Amino acid sequence: MENNKPDNVITVEDLSFTYGNEMVLDSLNLSVNKGETLVILGGSGAGKSTLLRLIIALIRPTRGRLTVFDKDINLLSERQLRPMRSRMGFVFQGGALFDSITVAENVGYALRINNPRISESEFKKTVMDILDYVEMTEFYSSYPADLSGGQRKRIAIARATITHPEIILYDEPTSGLDPIVSKRINQLINRLRIEQNITSIVVTHILQDAFEVATRLVMLKNGRLVFEGQSDDLLLSKDPYVQQFVR
Ligand SMILES: Nc1ncnc2c1ncn2[C@@H]1O[C@H](COP(=O)(O)OP(=O)(O)OP(=O)(O)O)[C@@H](O)[C@H]1O
Ligand SMILES: [Mg+2]
Repeated sequence: MENNKPDNVITVEDLSFTYGNEMVLDSLNLSVNKGETLVILGGSGAGKSTLLRLIIALIRPTRGRLTVFDKDINLLSERQLRPMRSRMGFVFQGGALFDSITVAENVGYALRINNPRISESEFKKTVMDILDYVEMTEFYSSYPADLSGGQRKRIAIARATITHPEIILYDEPTSGLDPIVSKRINQLINRLRIEQNITSIVVTHILQDAFEVATRLVMLKNGRLVFEGQSDDLLLSKDPYVQQFVR
């Protein structure tokens, strides 16, 4: 709060989260600055997806404070959360596209929600522009089932960015992709930062991808931060868990 710098878009203070008796996040402190790409590393079950779900307020902290755009999430009603969520884009683990509607309807989903009377020409132009950005225009009328894994991820990113969010949260955007396709996704994440100054959090356990997009990295282990710093610091870390992870 008081010590929030103006360029702090997300602040996590002494944040804990439990499922039943299981402590999933344990007294976490972390802040994310405008325009940075923070990578969250960590093994399976470390609490990475849970942290993203807390940031978009799908779940609420058990203890501690989470501030997004200078607003304390715990103090907002479901209705007050809506405008805040509309400033964020979320690329889900696995893509989570709707299989029964076209690529265009998937990508433009938020356009219709925000403006049910949007004209067809405006809809098409806006969707085409964003498809062009991810180099997927020829798939406008396709269905998700017709796409490869990497194409689905690019569509998921297009869908998350169509409302011009200030923050994008990516949950394992390159999992299951080959290194060449992963590189394309990483380039897209970097372009969004460089050209649009978007603040991103990228969850991954693929070190190569982490290094390609990160401006800063943290590592979670059993709900606690065991590392915070730059790529070089990570490789030099003396922490035994970090060493295991990077070798
Ligand atoms: N809905 C839920 N109910 C109960 N426990 C849950 C639930 N979701 C997650 N957990 C537990 O919380 C812990 C953290 O899960 P989370 O999904 O945040 O891990 P993760 O770091 O994203 O792992 P992965 O790399 O496998 O995606 C795990 O032990 C998991 O079993
Ligand atoms: Mg996860």
